[in-house]
Amino acid sequence: MPEIQIMPSILAADFGRLAEGCQRAEAAGAEQIHVDVMDGVFVPNISFGPDVVKMSSASVDIPQNVHLMVTRPQDHIKAFASAGSDTILIHIEAKCDVAETLAAIRGMGKRAGITLNPETPVESIFPCLENRWVDEVLVMSVHPGFGGQKYLSYVEGKIATIRRMADWVDVSIDGGIDDQTVAAAAAHGANLFVAGSYLYKQEDMQAAVSNLRKAAQDNYCKAI
Ligand code: DX5
Ligand code: ZN
Repeated sequence: MPEIQIMPSILAADFGRLAEGCQRAEAAGAEQIHVDVMDGVFVPNISFGPDVVKMSSASVDIPQNVHLMVTRPQDHIKAFASAGSDTILIHIEAKCDVAETLAAIRGMGKRAGITLNPETPVESIFPCLENRWVDEVLVMSVHPGFGGQKYLSYVEGKIATIRRMADWVDVSIDGGIDDQTVAAAAAHGANLFVAGSYLYKQEDMQAAVSNLRKAAQDNYCKAI
């Protein structure tokens, strides 16, 4: 069974105290920090650049899971790798040679991941699994660009397909994850859980992280 991990998204942290937001996630027992990079073109919003990853990786010891919502990831992977990313996720919908970009990420000694939007057919990422170009597949359960959106349960079939095809890959789910939605995502085969607004609004983040992890462990692959 792949390890179940919780990844707080610092998009939901207080931007005036981002380092504290990272440290809060680490102290709460989260296994990775999720950093949402948005270029204002691939998605309508603009968020963080490599310097924020540099800050985040310097402020905690846990790994940096960096989600590039950018149109041309191949132009930026080097900067994000040098900044201290541990995993770099690109989108299948980006304008790039996916195989080449994933290989370049691994060539820099980083874990490589592919992400797909809610409306993107799961078949589009099959080559990434068949050729083992990736360590992680991130299934978006909201339309990327903003935190705090409602979980789209219709993506669960895609999680199940990916999990059935590849028991070795980390399957992460991103968008609208909370104490209600985590179980169904886990039941369909997700093992990494990004949670932004739900975790950062908690008074006791440690309890919330433990509860999410427990619910995921109890339900893992139950629906497939
Ligand atoms: C959305 C981002 C998410 C976002 C999740 O574009 O990729 O990582 O931070 O936020 P919540 O958990 O609030 O849906
Ligand atoms: Zn994300």
